[in-house]
Amino acid sequence: MKFIHLTDTHLVADAGLLYGTNPKQRLQQAVTHLLAHQPDAQAVVITGDLTHYGHAEAYVHLRECLAPLTMPVYPILGNHDSRERFLQHFAHIDTDANGFVQYARDFGPYLALFLDTNEPGVHWGVYCETRASWLRARLAESNKPVLLFMHHPFFPIGIRSMDALSLLDTSAFLGAINGFEHRIRHVFFGHIHRPICGTFRGMAYSTLHGTNHQVALDLHSDASCIYGSHERSQYGVVMLNEEQVLIHAEDFLNSDQRYRLHEMADYAIATA
Ligand SMILES: [Fe+2]
Repeated sequence: MKFIHLTDTHLVADAGLLYGTNPKQRLQQAVTHLLAHQPDAQAVVITGDLTHYGHAEAYVHLRECLAPLTMPVYPILGNHDSRERFLQHFAHIDTDANGFVQYARDFGPYLALFLDTNEPGVHWGVYCETRASWLRARLAESNKPVLLFMHHPFFPIGIRSMDALSLLDTSAFLGAINGFEHRIRHVFFGHIHRPICGTFRGMAYSTLHGTNHQVALDLHSDASCIYGSHERSQYGVVMLNEEQVLIHAEDFLNSDQRYRLHEMADYAIATA
């Protein structure tokens, strides 16, 4: 199975600029690019901060941007989103029994679990016992390897300002996955607006640049400011089989500047 990982689209109500670039235009460019280059993708996942202010009009723009996609789209909420307004405009997206935007899907041989770390009024992530009980039940009822999708990371990433806004109280989340860590093959998150990959307690994780604006790589400043940057927008191309979770990062605004680097005959390798 192949799917696309988009994150932090940050759409705004007037479809205008945000930090000097246009989030709606950038998302439309991403959609056009992925349809042209990855038409065989079977799903598109968006790991939160769908909008910047949670305004209703921004969710209308989001629907408009996503309309050309021919494959299912699986969005989750970020700290900038409004659960209420999202569900007004994305009523077809499942929620759990308590109204949180949490749902499960089969992704090839994997169980994909989409989690809701949004908490109204705060920007750090929250995962309460109510949400965690849903997660633990989904893990317990399946034997499949698991992919988790969540906006906030539950581990430090070294940028102090962003670590101050991560999933601060991890007790309910870590309690929910306790004993299932060996089945969690990959955690896809958003929030950081940077390409990051690694492992935490043996669980692999990754995130990417957002589609609009980025966070600068600053591992030295204190937590008093988030520094932005205008590095290249990305989406992820994820390929799954029973052996591998393979992730390519696509800088979709720059990827068409191609040239013939080497002819393979130069390497004495026969090509098909
Ligand atoms: Fe964001």
